Amino acid sequence: MRFFDMKVAVLLLGGSTAASAWKVYTVPHSTTGQDDTPALVAALASGNFSSNASILFKKGVTYNIFTPITFPAFTNVEVHIEGNLTYPSDIPTIQNIVGSSGFPGAWFTFSGGTNVTLRGSTDPKWGWVDGHGQAWWDANQQVNRPHGWAFSKISNGIIRDMKLWKPIGWNFATSGSSNLHAFNNKIVAVSSTKVPSPRPRFSSASDTFNSHSLSTQCAHFHAVHLESDGFSAGGTNMLFENNHIQNGDDCLTVGSGAKNIHFRECVRETYALAFLAHSNSYCEGGHGLSIGSLGKGGSVADVQDILIENVQMKNTLYGARFKSWTGGNGLARNVTWKNIFFTNVPFPIYVTQNYWDQGIGPKPNTTSTNNTHIQDFLFQNFVGTIEDKPYVEGSCVSDPCWYAVPGATGKEVAILDLYPGTGSLFSANNVVAKGILGFTETGAQVRVMCSSTTVSNDVGFKCWDGPFIPTRAGL
Ligand SMILES: *[C@@H]1O[C@H](CO)[C@@H](O)[C@H](O)[C@H]1NC(C)=O
Ligand SMILES: *[C@@H]1O[C@H](CO)[C@@H](O)[C@H](O)[C@H]1NC(C)=O
Ligand SMILES: *[C@@H]1O[C@H](CO)[C@@H](O)[C@H](O)[C@H]1NC(C)=O
Ligand SMILES: *[C@@H]1O[C@H](CO)[C@@H](O)[C@H](O)[C@H]1NC(C)=O
Ligand SMILES: *[C@@H]1O[C@H](CO)[C@@H](O)[C@H](O)[C@H]1NC(C)=O
Ligand SMILES: *[C@@H]1O[C@H](CO)[C@@H](O)[C@H](O)[C@H]1NC(C)=O
Ligand SMILES: *[C@@H]1O[C@H](CO)[C@@H](O)[C@H](O)[C@H]1NC(C)=O
Repeated sequence: MRFFDMKVAVLLLGGSTAASAWKVYTVPHSTTGQDDTPALVAALASGNFSSNASILFKKGVTYNIFTPITFPAFTNVEVHIEGNLTYPSDIPTIQNIVGSSGFPGAWFTFSGGTNVTLRGSTDPKWGWVDGHGQAWWDANQQVNRPHGWAFSKISNGIIRDMKLWKPIGWNFATSGSSNLHAFNNKIVAVSSTKVPSPRPRFSSASDTFNSHSLSTQCAHFHAVHLESDGFSAGGTNMLFENNHIQNGDDCLTVGSGAKNIHFRECVRETYALAFLAHSNSYCEGGHGLSIGSLGKGGSVADVQDILIENVQMKNTLYGARFKSWTGGNGLARNVTWKNIFFTNVPFPIYVTQNYWDQGIGPKPNTTSTNNTHIQDFLFQNFVGTIEDKPYVEGSCVSDPCWYAVPGATGKEVAILDLYPGTGSLFSANNVVAKGILGFTETGAQVRVMCSSTTVSNDVGFKCWDGPFIPTRAGL
Protein backbone atom coordinates (compact mmCIF):
# COMPACT_ATOMS: atom_id res chain seq x y z
CA MET A 1 0.00 0.00 0.00
CA ARG A 2 2.75 2.32 0.99
CA PHE A 3 4.49 1.43 -2.26
CA PHE A 4 1.37 2.29 -4.20
CA ASP A 5 1.08 5.68 -2.47
CA MET A 6 4.56 6.52 -3.47
CA LYS A 7 3.79 5.71 -7.05
CA VAL A 8 0.84 8.05 -7.02
CA ALA A 9 2.97 10.75 -5.50
CA VAL A 10 5.56 10.37 -8.22
CA LEU A 11 2.89 10.51 -10.88
CA LEU A 12 1.41 13.63 -9.35
CA LEU A 13 4.83 15.21 -9.19
CA GLY A 14 5.36 14.35 -12.84
CA GLY A 15 2.06 15.98 -13.66
CA SER A 16 2.85 19.15 -11.80
CA THR A 17 6.25 19.60 -13.49
CA ALA A 18 4.59 19.05 -16.85
CA ALA A 19 2.27 21.91 -15.96
CA SER A 20 5.28 24.12 -15.31
CA ALA A 21 7.20 22.83 -18.31
CA TRP A 22 9.89 24.68 -20.14
CA LYS A 23 8.72 28.06 -21.30
CA VAL A 24 10.07 30.10 -24.15
CA TYR A 25 9.56 33.81 -24.14
CA THR A 26 10.28 35.37 -27.50
CA VAL A 27 11.02 39.01 -26.95
CA PRO A 28 8.62 41.08 -29.04
CA HIS A 29 9.88 43.72 -31.38
CA SER A 30 8.34 47.06 -32.11
CA THR A 31 8.22 47.68 -35.82
CA THR A 32 8.09 51.42 -35.33
CA GLY A 33 11.62 51.80 -34.08
CA GLN A 34 10.67 52.04 -30.40
CA ASP A 35 12.60 50.75 -27.46
CA ASP A 36 12.07 46.99 -27.19
CA THR A 37 12.90 46.73 -23.53
CA PRO A 38 9.61 47.76 -21.81
CA ALA A 39 7.74 44.68 -23.02
CA LEU A 40 10.60 42.45 -21.95
CA VAL A 41 10.85 44.12 -18.57
CA ALA A 42 7.11 43.62 -18.01
CA ALA A 43 7.34 39.96 -18.93
CA LEU A 44 10.31 39.47 -16.62
CA ALA A 45 8.39 41.18 -13.83
CA SER A 46 5.57 38.63 -14.17
CA GLY A 47 7.96 36.05 -12.75
CA ASN A 48 6.79 33.57 -15.37
CA PHE A 49 10.23 33.30 -16.90
CA SER A 50 12.46 33.30 -13.85
CA SER A 51 12.93 29.57 -13.95
CA ASN A 52 12.89 26.77 -16.49
CA ALA A 53 12.69 29.20 -19.34
CA SER A 54 14.40 30.54 -22.40
CA ILE A 55 14.32 34.19 -23.22
CA LEU A 56 14.81 34.42 -26.93
CA PHE A 57 15.84 37.38 -29.02
CA LYS A 58 14.92 35.88 -32.31
CA LYS A 59 16.91 35.71 -35.47
CA GLY A 60 15.94 38.13 -38.22
CA VAL A 61 15.21 40.96 -35.83
CA THR A 62 17.37 43.86 -34.70
CA TYR A 63 16.19 44.71 -31.21
CA ASN A 64 16.41 48.23 -29.84
CA ILE A 65 17.85 48.02 -26.36
CA PHE A 66 17.45 51.69 -25.59
CA THR A 67 17.31 51.29 -21.83
CA PRO A 68 19.33 49.05 -19.55
CA ILE A 69 17.92 45.63 -18.69
CA THR A 70 18.16 44.03 -15.27
CA PHE A 71 17.26 40.37 -15.30
CA PRO A 72 15.79 38.91 -12.12
CA ALA A 73 17.54 36.07 -10.30
CA PHE A 74 17.20 33.03 -12.54
CA THR A 75 17.09 29.28 -12.06
CA ASN A 76 17.62 27.14 -15.15
CA VAL A 77 17.28 29.98 -17.57
CA GLU A 78 18.89 30.66 -20.88
CA VAL A 79 19.06 34.09 -22.44
CA HIS A 80 19.51 33.31 -26.07
CA ILE A 81 20.48 36.03 -28.50
CA GLU A 82 19.86 34.96 -32.07
CA GLY A 83 18.88 38.41 -33.29
CA ASN A 84 20.96 41.56 -33.30
CA LEU A 85 20.79 43.91 -30.34
CA THR A 86 21.55 47.58 -30.63
CA TYR A 87 22.34 50.20 -28.04
CA PRO A 88 21.20 53.77 -28.67
CA SER A 89 23.55 55.20 -31.24
CA ASP A 90 23.75 58.67 -29.80
CA ILE A 91 26.12 59.39 -26.99
CA PRO A 92 24.08 61.83 -24.81
CA THR A 93 21.17 59.39 -24.49
CA ILE A 94 23.44 56.80 -22.98
CA GLN A 95 25.34 59.30 -20.86
CA ASN A 96 22.11 60.59 -19.32
CA ILE A 97 21.06 57.09 -18.38
CA VAL A 98 24.45 56.07 -17.05
CA GLY A 99 24.70 59.29 -15.07
CA SER A 100 21.29 58.87 -13.48
CA SER A 101 20.98 57.51 -9.97
CA GLY A 102 18.95 54.48 -11.01
CA PHE A 103 21.55 53.11 -13.40
CA PRO A 104 22.22 49.51 -12.38
CA GLY A 105 25.89 49.69 -13.34
CA ALA A 106 25.79 47.83 -16.63
CA TRP A 107 23.59 47.91 -19.70
CA PHE A 108 22.74 44.25 -19.14
CA THR A 109 22.70 43.10 -15.54
CA PHE A 110 22.11 39.60 -14.23
CA SER A 111 21.00 39.62 -10.63
CA GLY A 112 22.14 36.13 -9.79
CA GLY A 113 20.78 32.62 -9.64
CA THR A 114 21.70 29.10 -10.61
CA ASN A 115 22.29 27.41 -13.94
CA VAL A 116 22.12 30.46 -16.10
CA THR A 117 23.28 30.56 -19.71
CA LEU A 118 23.96 33.59 -21.80
CA ARG A 119 24.20 32.36 -25.34
CA GLY A 120 24.74 34.13 -28.64
CA SER A 121 24.39 32.90 -32.17
CA THR A 122 26.74 30.83 -34.29
CA ASP A 123 25.39 32.49 -37.41
CA PRO A 124 28.08 35.02 -38.37
CA LYS A 125 25.49 37.55 -39.52
CA TRP A 126 23.33 37.51 -36.42
CA GLY A 127 23.60 37.60 -32.69
CA TRP A 128 25.73 40.74 -32.58
CA VAL A 129 25.36 43.22 -29.77
CA ASP A 130 26.23 46.55 -31.31
CA GLY A 131 27.43 49.20 -28.87
CA HIS A 132 28.11 51.83 -31.54
CA GLY A 133 31.40 52.49 -29.83
CA GLN A 134 32.89 54.13 -32.90
CA ALA A 135 31.36 57.53 -32.16
CA TRP A 136 32.62 57.38 -28.60
CA TRP A 137 36.10 56.45 -29.73
CA ASP A 138 36.22 59.12 -32.40
CA ALA A 139 35.20 61.76 -29.87
CA ASN A 140 37.53 60.27 -27.25
CA GLN A 141 34.45 60.39 -25.06
CA GLN A 142 35.02 58.76 -21.69
CA VAL A 143 32.28 60.33 -19.58
CA ASN A 144 29.52 58.02 -18.36
CA ARG A 145 30.43 55.05 -20.48
CA PRO A 146 28.27 52.03 -19.65
CA HIS A 147 29.66 48.67 -18.72
CA GLY A 148 28.35 45.89 -20.94
CA TRP A 149 27.33 42.60 -19.35
CA ALA A 150 27.41 42.08 -15.61
CA PHE A 151 27.07 38.34 -15.20
CA SER A 152 27.00 38.55 -11.45
CA LYS A 153 26.29 36.27 -8.51
CA ILE A 154 25.51 33.25 -10.62
CA SER A 155 26.46 29.74 -9.72
CA ASN A 156 26.83 27.38 -12.66
CA GLY A 157 26.88 29.91 -15.44
CA ILE A 158 27.76 29.71 -19.10
CA ILE A 159 28.63 32.53 -21.45
CA ARG A 160 28.99 31.20 -24.98
CA ASP A 161 28.92 32.32 -28.59
CA MET A 162 28.36 35.91 -27.61
CA LYS A 163 29.51 38.56 -30.04
CA LEU A 164 30.08 42.16 -29.12
CA TRP A 165 30.54 44.69 -31.88
CA LYS A 166 32.26 47.96 -31.03
CA PRO A 167 31.39 47.92 -27.36
CA ILE A 168 31.72 51.30 -25.68
CA GLY A 169 33.52 50.20 -22.56
CA TRP A 170 34.07 47.17 -20.44
CA ASN A 171 32.55 43.97 -21.74
CA PHE A 172 31.91 41.04 -19.43
CA ALA A 173 32.27 41.12 -15.68
CA THR A 174 31.71 38.03 -13.59
CA SER A 175 31.97 39.24 -10.03
CA GLY A 176 30.46 37.04 -7.39
CA SER A 177 29.86 34.16 -9.76
CA SER A 178 31.15 30.64 -9.39
CA ASN A 179 31.50 27.65 -11.67
CA LEU A 180 31.49 29.63 -14.84
CA HIS A 181 32.49 28.55 -18.31
CA ALA A 182 33.00 31.28 -20.90
CA PHE A 183 33.87 30.11 -24.38
CA ASN A 184 33.59 30.95 -28.06
CA ASN A 185 32.90 34.57 -27.38
CA LYS A 186 34.06 37.33 -29.63
CA ILE A 187 34.75 40.94 -28.83
CA VAL A 188 35.49 43.25 -31.71
CA ALA A 189 36.53 46.65 -30.45
CA VAL A 190 38.34 47.67 -33.57
CA SER A 191 37.98 51.13 -35.00
CA SER A 192 37.38 51.65 -38.68
CA THR A 193 38.36 55.28 -38.78
CA LYS A 194 41.28 57.65 -38.61
CA VAL A 195 44.46 58.40 -36.74
CA PRO A 196 47.21 56.02 -37.58
CA SER A 197 49.23 54.74 -34.71
CA PRO A 198 52.40 56.76 -34.24
CA ARG A 199 54.51 53.68 -34.40
CA PRO A 200 54.90 51.23 -37.21
CA ARG A 201 53.22 48.11 -35.99
CA PHE A 202 52.76 44.77 -37.63
CA SER A 203 56.36 44.81 -38.65
CA SER A 204 57.18 41.16 -38.38
CA ALA A 205 57.46 39.14 -41.53
CA SER A 206 54.42 37.01 -40.95
CA ASP A 207 52.17 40.03 -41.05
CA THR A 208 53.13 41.54 -44.31
CA PHE A 209 50.43 39.79 -46.26
CA ASN A 210 47.73 41.21 -44.08
CA SER A 211 45.79 43.66 -46.12
CA HIS A 212 43.91 44.94 -43.09
CA SER A 213 46.90 45.97 -41.13
CA LEU A 214 46.31 49.66 -41.48
CA SER A 215 42.79 49.69 -40.21
CA THR A 216 43.61 47.30 -37.45
CA GLN A 217 46.52 49.43 -36.51
CA CYS A 218 44.38 52.55 -36.26
CA ALA A 219 41.93 50.60 -34.37
CA HIS A 220 44.27 49.74 -31.65
CA PHE A 221 45.41 53.26 -31.33
CA HIS A 222 41.83 54.13 -30.79
CA ALA A 223 40.47 51.36 -28.83
CA VAL A 224 43.31 51.82 -26.47
CA HIS A 225 41.85 55.12 -25.41
CA LEU A 226 38.78 53.38 -24.23
CA GLU A 227 39.59 50.99 -21.56
CA SER A 228 37.40 48.13 -22.51
CA ASP A 229 38.45 45.02 -20.70
CA GLY A 230 37.60 41.77 -22.36
CA PHE A 231 36.79 39.75 -19.31
CA SER A 232 36.94 40.99 -15.76
CA ALA A 233 37.13 37.89 -13.66
CA GLY A 234 36.00 38.06 -10.08
CA GLY A 235 34.59 34.92 -8.56
CA THR A 236 35.47 31.29 -8.15
CA ASN A 237 36.09 28.37 -10.47
CA MET A 238 36.02 29.89 -13.88
CA LEU A 239 37.24 28.63 -17.19
CA PHE A 240 37.71 31.04 -20.07
CA GLU A 241 38.69 29.48 -23.36
CA ASN A 242 38.59 30.01 -27.08
CA ASN A 243 37.59 33.61 -26.82
CA HIS A 244 38.50 36.13 -29.49
CA ILE A 245 39.38 39.50 -28.13
CA GLN A 246 40.45 42.54 -30.09
CA ASN A 247 40.29 45.45 -27.78
CA GLY A 248 41.93 48.32 -26.04
CA ASP A 249 42.50 47.32 -22.50
CA ASP A 250 43.20 44.06 -20.79
CA CYS A 251 42.29 40.76 -22.40
CA LEU A 252 41.65 39.50 -18.95
CA THR A 253 41.59 41.32 -15.67
CA VAL A 254 41.56 39.29 -12.52
CA GLY A 255 40.21 41.22 -9.58
CA SER A 256 40.24 40.69 -5.86
CA GLY A 257 38.22 37.74 -4.66
CA ALA A 258 39.09 35.69 -7.73
CA LYS A 259 39.89 32.07 -7.01
CA ASN A 260 40.66 29.18 -9.27
CA ILE A 261 40.51 30.95 -12.60
CA HIS A 262 41.78 29.27 -15.74
CA PHE A 263 42.22 31.34 -18.88
CA ARG A 264 43.56 29.52 -21.89
CA GLU A 265 43.87 29.27 -25.60
CA CYS A 266 43.55 32.85 -26.40
CA VAL A 267 45.51 33.52 -29.55
CA ARG A 268 45.08 36.08 -32.27
CA GLU A 269 43.34 35.21 -35.49
CA THR A 270 43.27 38.19 -37.78
CA TYR A 271 45.93 37.42 -40.29
CA ALA A 272 48.66 34.80 -40.38
CA LEU A 273 46.23 32.02 -40.95
CA ALA A 274 49.07 29.59 -40.68
CA PHE A 275 49.09 30.24 -36.98
CA LEU A 276 45.53 29.17 -36.73
CA ALA A 277 46.08 25.55 -37.39
CA HIS A 278 45.82 24.67 -33.75
CA SER A 279 44.70 27.83 -32.11
CA ASN A 280 41.37 29.47 -32.25
CA SER A 281 41.32 32.45 -30.01
CA TYR A 282 42.99 35.71 -29.90
CA CYS A 283 44.23 38.59 -27.83
CA GLU A 284 45.49 41.58 -29.67
CA GLY A 285 46.12 45.21 -28.93
CA GLY A 286 45.40 46.42 -25.49
CA HIS A 287 47.22 46.01 -22.27
CA GLY A 288 47.58 42.35 -21.56
CA LEU A 289 46.82 39.60 -19.12
CA SER A 290 46.44 41.37 -15.83
CA ILE A 291 46.03 40.59 -12.23
CA GLY A 292 44.87 43.70 -10.43
CA SER A 293 45.03 46.38 -9.75
CA LEU A 294 44.74 45.16 -6.21
CA GLY A 295 44.82 46.89 -2.86
CA LYS A 296 43.58 50.30 -3.93
CA GLY A 297 43.07 52.65 -1.01
CA GLY A 298 44.51 50.09 1.41
CA SER A 299 41.92 47.45 0.56
CA VAL A 300 42.71 43.83 1.36
CA ALA A 301 43.22 41.78 -1.78
CA ASP A 302 42.56 38.08 -2.00
CA VAL A 303 43.48 36.30 -5.21
CA GLN A 304 44.56 32.72 -5.61
CA ASP A 305 45.03 29.79 -7.97
CA ILE A 306 45.11 31.53 -11.32
CA LEU A 307 46.38 29.79 -14.43
CA ILE A 308 46.73 31.69 -17.68
CA GLU A 309 48.17 29.63 -20.48
CA ASN A 310 48.59 29.26 -24.22
CA VAL A 311 48.03 32.83 -25.17
CA GLN A 312 49.45 34.74 -28.06
CA MET A 313 49.89 38.41 -27.35
CA LYS A 314 50.44 40.68 -30.26
CA ASN A 315 51.11 44.42 -30.19
CA THR A 316 49.96 44.60 -26.62
CA LEU A 317 51.61 46.94 -24.15
CA TYR A 318 52.12 44.18 -21.62
CA GLY A 319 52.31 40.42 -21.80
CA ALA A 320 51.75 39.31 -18.24
CA ARG A 321 51.10 42.02 -15.72
CA PHE A 322 50.56 42.18 -12.00
CA LYS A 323 49.87 45.42 -10.24
CA SER A 324 48.99 46.29 -6.72
CA TRP A 325 48.67 49.73 -5.22
CA THR A 326 51.19 51.21 -2.94
CA GLY A 327 49.74 51.05 0.58
CA GLY A 328 47.53 48.10 -0.28
CA ASN A 329 47.01 44.95 1.69
CA GLY A 330 46.25 41.26 1.36
CA LEU A 331 47.74 38.47 -0.71
CA ALA A 332 47.85 37.13 -4.25
CA ARG A 333 49.19 33.62 -4.44
CA ASN A 334 49.67 30.74 -6.84
CA VAL A 335 49.48 32.60 -10.12
CA THR A 336 50.95 31.08 -13.27
CA TRP A 337 51.34 32.54 -16.74
CA LYS A 338 52.51 29.78 -19.02
CA ASN A 339 53.23 29.41 -22.74
CA ILE A 340 52.87 33.02 -23.67
CA PHE A 341 53.98 33.98 -27.16
CA PHE A 342 54.47 37.66 -27.64
CA THR A 343 55.16 39.80 -30.66
CA ASN A 344 56.07 43.45 -30.55
CA VAL A 345 55.38 43.82 -26.84
CA PRO A 346 57.28 46.47 -24.83
CA PHE A 347 56.74 44.86 -21.41
CA PRO A 348 56.47 41.06 -21.70
CA ILE A 349 56.61 40.52 -17.94
CA TYR A 350 55.80 43.34 -15.60
CA VAL A 351 55.15 43.13 -11.89
CA THR A 352 54.65 46.12 -9.66
CA GLN A 353 53.72 46.21 -6.02
CA ASN A 354 54.18 49.96 -6.00
CA TYR A 355 51.48 51.13 -8.35
CA TRP A 356 49.94 54.54 -8.17
CA ASP A 357 48.00 56.63 -10.62
CA GLN A 358 50.63 58.66 -12.43
CA GLY A 359 47.86 60.64 -14.06
CA ILE A 360 46.86 62.11 -10.68
CA GLY A 361 50.23 63.22 -9.40
CA PRO A 362 53.52 62.11 -7.88
CA LYS A 363 53.91 58.91 -5.97
CA PRO A 364 52.00 59.28 -2.69
CA ASN A 365 53.99 59.37 0.52
CA THR A 366 52.24 56.54 2.22
CA THR A 367 53.25 55.98 5.81
CA SER A 368 51.77 52.52 5.68
CA THR A 369 54.17 49.64 5.56
CA ASN A 370 51.30 47.52 4.30
CA ASN A 371 51.25 46.25 0.78
CA THR A 372 49.71 43.42 -1.15
CA HIS A 373 51.97 40.42 -0.77
CA ILE A 374 52.62 38.07 -3.64
CA GLN A 375 53.62 34.46 -3.41
CA ASP A 376 54.24 31.58 -5.81
CA PHE A 377 54.20 33.50 -9.06
CA LEU A 378 55.48 31.61 -12.08
CA PHE A 379 56.18 32.99 -15.54
CA GLN A 380 56.97 29.98 -17.68
CA ASN A 381 57.86 29.73 -21.36
CA PHE A 382 57.66 33.26 -22.59
CA VAL A 383 58.86 33.47 -26.15
CA GLY A 384 58.81 36.43 -28.48
CA THR A 385 59.94 39.86 -29.49
CA ILE A 386 60.26 42.93 -27.31
CA GLU A 387 59.23 46.23 -28.86
CA ASP A 388 62.34 48.31 -28.11
CA LYS A 389 62.03 50.91 -30.81
CA PRO A 390 60.62 54.27 -29.75
CA TYR A 391 56.86 54.16 -29.62
CA VAL A 392 53.98 55.97 -28.02
CA GLU A 393 51.15 53.77 -26.95
CA GLY A 394 47.72 55.07 -27.84
CA SER A 395 46.59 55.62 -24.28
CA CYS A 396 49.50 57.92 -23.49
CA VAL A 397 48.27 61.44 -22.86
CA SER A 398 51.08 62.70 -20.65
CA ASP A 399 54.86 63.09 -20.61
CA PRO A 400 56.18 60.81 -19.33
CA CYS A 401 53.49 58.32 -20.36
CA TRP A 402 51.53 56.63 -17.60
CA TYR A 403 53.27 53.34 -18.27
CA ALA A 404 56.81 54.78 -18.17
CA VAL A 405 59.12 53.00 -15.75
CA PRO A 406 61.90 55.18 -14.33
CA GLY A 407 65.26 53.73 -15.25
CA ALA A 408 63.94 51.30 -17.84
CA THR A 409 65.72 51.12 -21.18
CA GLY A 410 62.85 49.57 -23.11
CA LYS A 411 64.81 46.37 -23.64
CA GLU A 412 63.60 44.58 -20.51
CA VAL A 413 61.96 41.20 -20.93
CA ALA A 414 61.03 41.31 -17.24
CA ILE A 415 60.57 44.10 -14.73
CA LEU A 416 60.05 43.10 -11.12
CA ASP A 417 59.21 46.26 -9.23
CA LEU A 418 58.72 44.65 -5.84
CA TYR A 419 57.96 46.17 -2.50
CA PRO A 420 61.07 46.39 -0.41
CA GLY A 421 61.22 44.02 2.54
CA THR A 422 63.63 41.98 4.54
CA GLY A 423 63.84 38.42 5.75
CA SER A 424 60.50 36.99 6.75
CA LEU A 425 58.97 40.31 5.89
CA PHE A 426 59.60 39.99 2.18
CA SER A 427 56.49 41.02 0.34
CA ALA A 428 57.31 38.89 -2.64
CA ASN A 429 58.06 35.24 -2.18
CA ASN A 430 58.86 32.62 -4.74
CA VAL A 431 58.50 34.73 -7.86
CA VAL A 432 60.15 32.80 -10.68
CA ALA A 433 60.55 33.32 -14.42
CA LYS A 434 61.70 30.25 -16.32
CA GLY A 435 62.09 29.37 -19.94
CA ILE A 436 62.27 33.00 -21.02
CA LEU A 437 63.38 33.58 -24.58
CA GLY A 438 63.04 37.17 -25.65
CA PHE A 439 64.55 39.10 -28.53
CA THR A 440 64.59 42.82 -28.95
CA GLU A 441 63.48 44.10 -32.30
CA THR A 442 66.64 46.15 -32.71
CA GLY A 443 68.86 43.22 -31.86
CA ALA A 444 70.11 44.94 -28.71
CA GLN A 445 70.87 42.89 -25.64
CA VAL A 446 67.82 41.87 -23.61
CA ARG A 447 67.75 43.26 -20.10
CA VAL A 448 65.84 42.96 -16.84
CA MET A 449 65.02 45.17 -13.87
CA CYS A 450 65.00 43.65 -10.41
CA SER A 451 66.26 44.65 -7.00
CA SER A 452 67.90 41.84 -5.06
CA THR A 453 66.90 43.44 -1.76
CA THR A 454 63.22 42.83 -2.54
CA VAL A 455 63.15 39.10 -3.03
CA SER A 456 64.92 36.21 -1.38
CA ASN A 457 64.58 33.44 -3.93
CA ASP A 458 66.36 32.88 -7.24
CA VAL A 459 63.94 34.59 -9.65
CA GLY A 460 65.31 32.70 -12.64
CA PHE A 461 67.67 35.41 -13.79
CA LYS A 462 70.29 37.56 -12.22
CA CYS A 463 68.30 40.02 -10.14
CA TRP A 464 69.69 43.41 -11.10
CA ASP A 465 69.14 46.26 -13.48
CA GLY A 466 71.22 44.85 -16.26
CA PRO A 467 71.48 42.25 -18.99
CA PHE A 468 69.25 39.21 -18.79
CA ILE A 469 71.31 36.34 -17.46
CA PRO A 470 69.33 33.18 -16.72
CA THR A 471 70.11 31.43 -13.47
CA ARG A 472 69.47 27.91 -12.29
CA ALA A 473 65.80 28.47 -11.46
CA GLY A 474 65.27 30.01 -14.87
CA LEU A 475 66.30 26.99 -16.89
C1 LIG B 1 11.96 23.46 -13.00
O1 LIG B 1 12.16 22.17 -13.54
C2 LIG B 1 12.64 21.22 -12.59
C3 LIG B 1 12.83 19.91 -13.32
O2 LIG B 1 13.52 20.10 -14.49
C4 LIG B 1 11.65 21.07 -11.46
O3 LIG B 1 12.18 20.21 -10.49
C5 LIG B 1 11.37 22.41 -10.83
O4 LIG B 1 10.34 22.30 -9.88
C6 LIG B 1 10.94 23.42 -11.88
N1 LIG B 1 10.83 24.71 -11.25
C7 LIG B 1 9.75 25.46 -11.40
C8 LIG B 1 9.72 26.73 -10.61
O5 LIG B 1 8.85 25.16 -12.14
C1 LIG C 1 2.13 34.71 -16.48
O1 LIG C 1 1.45 33.51 -16.20
C2 LIG C 1 0.08 33.74 -15.82
C3 LIG C 1 -0.52 32.40 -15.42
O2 LIG C 1 -0.21 31.41 -16.36
C4 LIG C 1 -0.67 34.37 -16.99
O3 LIG C 1 -2.00 34.65 -16.60
C5 LIG C 1 0.03 35.67 -17.36
O4 LIG C 1 -0.55 36.23 -18.52
C6 LIG C 1 1.49 35.42 -17.65
N1 LIG C 1 2.16 36.68 -17.88
C7 LIG C 1 3.04 36.83 -18.86
C8 LIG C 1 3.64 38.19 -19.00
O5 LIG C 1 3.37 35.93 -19.61
C1 LIG D 1 20.12 24.14 -16.81
O1 LIG D 1 19.54 25.00 -17.75
C2 LIG D 1 19.47 24.45 -19.05
C3 LIG D 1 18.96 25.52 -19.98
O2 LIG D 1 19.86 26.57 -20.05
C4 LIG D 1 18.58 23.24 -19.04
O3 LIG D 1 18.53 22.67 -20.31
C5 LIG D 1 19.11 22.25 -18.05
O4 LIG D 1 18.20 21.18 -17.93
C6 LIG D 1 19.28 22.89 -16.69
N1 LIG D 1 19.93 21.96 -15.80
C7 LIG D 1 19.33 21.50 -14.71
C8 LIG D 1 20.15 20.60 -13.87
O5 LIG D 1 18.19 21.81 -14.43
C1 LIG E 1 24.07 42.37 -37.10
O1 LIG E 1 24.99 43.30 -36.55
C2 LIG E 1 26.31 43.21 -37.03
C3 LIG E 1 27.14 44.18 -36.26
O2 LIG E 1 26.59 45.46 -36.31
C4 LIG E 1 26.30 43.52 -38.52
O3 LIG E 1 27.61 43.38 -39.03
C5 LIG E 1 25.38 42.55 -39.20
O4 LIG E 1 25.30 42.87 -40.57
C6 LIG E 1 24.00 42.61 -38.57
N1 LIG E 1 23.21 41.58 -39.18
C7 LIG E 1 22.24 41.85 -40.01
C8 LIG E 1 21.59 40.67 -40.63
O5 LIG E 1 21.91 43.00 -40.28
C1 LIG F 1 47.50 26.45 -7.87
O1 LIG F 1 46.44 26.79 -8.76
C2 LIG F 1 46.09 25.77 -9.65
C3 LIG F 1 44.96 26.30 -10.51
O2 LIG F 1 45.36 27.40 -11.22
C4 LIG F 1 45.64 24.54 -8.93
O3 LIG F 1 45.38 23.53 -9.85
C5 LIG F 1 46.73 24.10 -7.97
O4 LIG F 1 46.25 23.04 -7.19
C6 LIG F 1 47.10 25.24 -7.04
N1 LIG F 1 48.22 24.84 -6.21
C7 LIG F 1 48.25 25.02 -4.91
C8 LIG F 1 49.46 24.55 -4.22
O5 LIG F 1 47.30 25.53 -4.31
C1 LIG G 1 56.58 63.27 -0.30
O1 LIG G 1 57.59 63.63 0.58
C2 LIG G 1 58.64 64.39 -0.02
C3 LIG G 1 59.73 64.60 1.01
O2 LIG G 1 59.27 64.37 2.28
C4 LIG G 1 58.08 65.70 -0.55
O3 LIG G 1 59.09 66.44 -1.18
C5 LIG G 1 56.98 65.38 -1.55
O4 LIG G 1 56.36 66.56 -2.00
C6 LIG G 1 55.92 64.49 -0.93
N1 LIG G 1 55.00 64.08 -1.95
C7 LIG G 1 53.68 64.15 -1.81
C8 LIG G 1 52.84 63.64 -2.95
O5 LIG G 1 53.15 64.56 -0.80
C1 LIG H 1 47.86 47.75 7.81
O1 LIG H 1 47.19 46.49 7.86
C2 LIG H 1 46.66 46.19 9.13
C3 LIG H 1 46.15 44.77 9.11
O2 LIG H 1 45.48 44.47 7.92
C4 LIG H 1 45.59 47.21 9.48
O3 LIG H 1 45.07 46.92 10.76
C5 LIG H 1 46.20 48.59 9.46
O4 LIG H 1 45.20 49.55 9.65
C6 LIG H 1 46.88 48.87 8.13
N1 LIG H 1 47.59 50.14 8.18
C7 LIG H 1 47.39 51.08 7.28
C8 LIG H 1 48.18 52.34 7.49
O5 LIG H 1 46.66 50.96 6.31
